[in-house]
Amino acid sequence: MEDEIRVLKSRKNAVILAHNYQPMEIQALADVVGDSLELAVKAKETGADLIVVCGVRFMAETAKILNPGRKVIIPVEDAGCPLADHLTPAMILEARRQHPDAAVVVYVNSSAECKALADITCTSANAVRVVASLQNDEILFGPDANLAAYVQRELPDKRIIPLPPWGHCYVHTGFSLADVEAARKRGGIIVCHPECLPEVQEEADMIASTGGMVRGAADGGNEPWWVFTEREMVSRLRYLCPGRVFYEKPDAVCSDMKKIKPADLLRALDREEHEIVLSPSVMEDARRAIERMLAAGA
Ligand code: 13P
Ligand code: SF4
Repeated sequence: MEDEIRVLKSRKNAVILAHNYQPMEIQALADVVGDSLELAVKAKETGADLIVVCGVRFMAETAKILNPGRKVIIPVEDAGCPLADHLTPAMILEARRQHPDAAVVVYVNSSAECKALADITCTSANAVRVVASLQNDEILFGPDANLAAYVQRELPDKRIIPLPPWGHCYVHTGFSLADVEAARKRGGIIVCHPECLPEVQEEADMIASTGGMVRGAADGGNEPWWVFTEREMVSRLRYLCPGRVFYEKPDAVCSDMKKIKPADLLRALDREEHEIVLSPSVMEDARRAIERMLAAGA
């Protein structure tokens, strides 16, 4: 299957982008593996005719928005992000009405329609930089309320309003102070994703996006790492830094990230499905918000 995928990929001048949470067998078939920001940047730079995104839908939509003239496909159509579903365009419009002076920052884990209503997007890797780049004191930030709390802590002079206040990722809110305590007893460095709960963030030694974890783990140190994010991240870190010990939480699994199997990737390349199709006006408005993020020093 691996050979068939490689032959099809070169015949169709395709590029395969995979997120750090994808199963290792998919990561092994990808041209680029990274966090959501790195995948967006690669999608913008690619010269490929066909872009295959192995991740969840918002990642494929971002690739399409940045490449309106190219075909972008996702091998499994219903691989979504439950966090993204917490925010709707109606919520943004109502919040704008209530806070006319606020800027709207939309996390990339969101629908294309929500991005189209944003002043700027952000990822977990650049959220603080993006918000710091804005003149507005008041910021409507969604859909992740825990990432919003992280940005608030880093930028106390801003007033960050989470939109909605309950937006969260079920995988990351699964980490608790009991997990911190258990890790502390055994020793090592606790690294958490900013989608974790604020009380967990406060106790962690380091807060990083998945790309930030890859960079941080390669610092040459040899202390064990407790990795508070989706379980597959640990497989990726073990692969990249074989000399270091990493611990995962076995039940920290994003089920949508596990939907794509090598057979789906092969079929997707062969049939060029499932194509991401978005309205041209939504793409144009969303592209403005994403390009503004990339210009803000992504
Ligand atoms: P990263 O941008 O850190 O890759 O995070 C994306 C994501 O979905 C986290 O759950
Ligand atoms: Fe969405 Fe959470 Fe899965 Fe990331 S881990 S894709 S935020 S549900």
